Amino acid sequence: MENFSYQHYVSDTSFLDAYNTYQAKYAQQMRESDRIILELVREIQMKHDFNTGSMKLLDIGCSTGNLLLYIKRRFPQLILTGGDLSESSLKVCRTNQELKEVEFEVMDLLNLPSGAGYNIITINAVLYMMDDTQFESAMRSVAGALKPGGTMIAFDFFHPYPQDLHINEISSSHPYGLRLRFRPIDMVRKVLAQTGLKNSVFRPFTLPFDLAVSGAPEDLITYTVPTLEGKNLPFRGTLFQPWCHMTAVRV
Ligand SMILES: C[S@@+](CC[C@H](N)C(=O)[O-])C[C@H]1O[C@@H](n2cnc3c(N)ncnc32)[C@H](O)[C@@H]1O
Repeated sequence: MENFSYQHYVSDTSFLDAYNTYQAKYAQQMRESDRIILELVREIQMKHDFNTGSMKLLDIGCSTGNLLLYIKRRFPQLILTGGDLSESSLKVCRTNQELKEVEFEVMDLLNLPSGAGYNIITINAVLYMMDDTQFESAMRSVAGALKPGGTMIAFDFFHPYPQDLHINEISSSHPYGLRLRFRPIDMVRKVLAQTGLKNSVFRPFTLPFDLAVSGAPEDLITYTVPTLEGKNLPFRGTLFQPWCHMTAVRV
């Protein structure tokens, strides 16, 4: 499919049904990347003066709500919203009793409510599906929905090399292709500066433990490959995935 975009992803119901099942596993067992997001939320929360009001966090692209579940357990005082374009995923969120105080809405990352005044917006594994125009719109939309001084926390494919990679993955879960974009950090920094986000920090992600290859190759399950420095690099199939946590602050 030539013009694959995130709209195809969020409307592919058979894929989303399988994806929601995959997510159910991580409702019981926090992913290492989510643990780091919680740590970043903790650092921001420590600096917040609660006399000025409570803290509002939006998780956009929240899927079945796992990250919000962990945030709610650890930071019960935060006011939480989950947004996604997939109705079927939001339906799973709304039936979870543990998430009953969280507001869930159909929301488009590219068109978040301007002036919503969130202190934190998390974007966990969503941006890699976006082309350049969509990525810039997403950053502009996030800046508009954050309070001045508010922080975006993104987990995505960002790397330090001058290589702008566009990959079309055709696999059993995406037989018509899934666009993966590996963005150079310098390029992302330019977009952030243009869209009113500053003080960006990029933290390349490696796993603190080894994930053995498991299952058949066609299952495409994440595994790790050790480096000589003792880091464990995440791979999926033949591909090294340059996952990275990025934070930036609204001017
Ligand atoms: C790969 S999943 C990641 C889900 C979850 N954040 C996680 O880390 O497990 C991408 C999610 O982003 C949602 N999504 C994609 N494009 C979106 C958009 N423009 N606005 C809101 N949600 C979007 C999809 O429906 C899906 O739930």
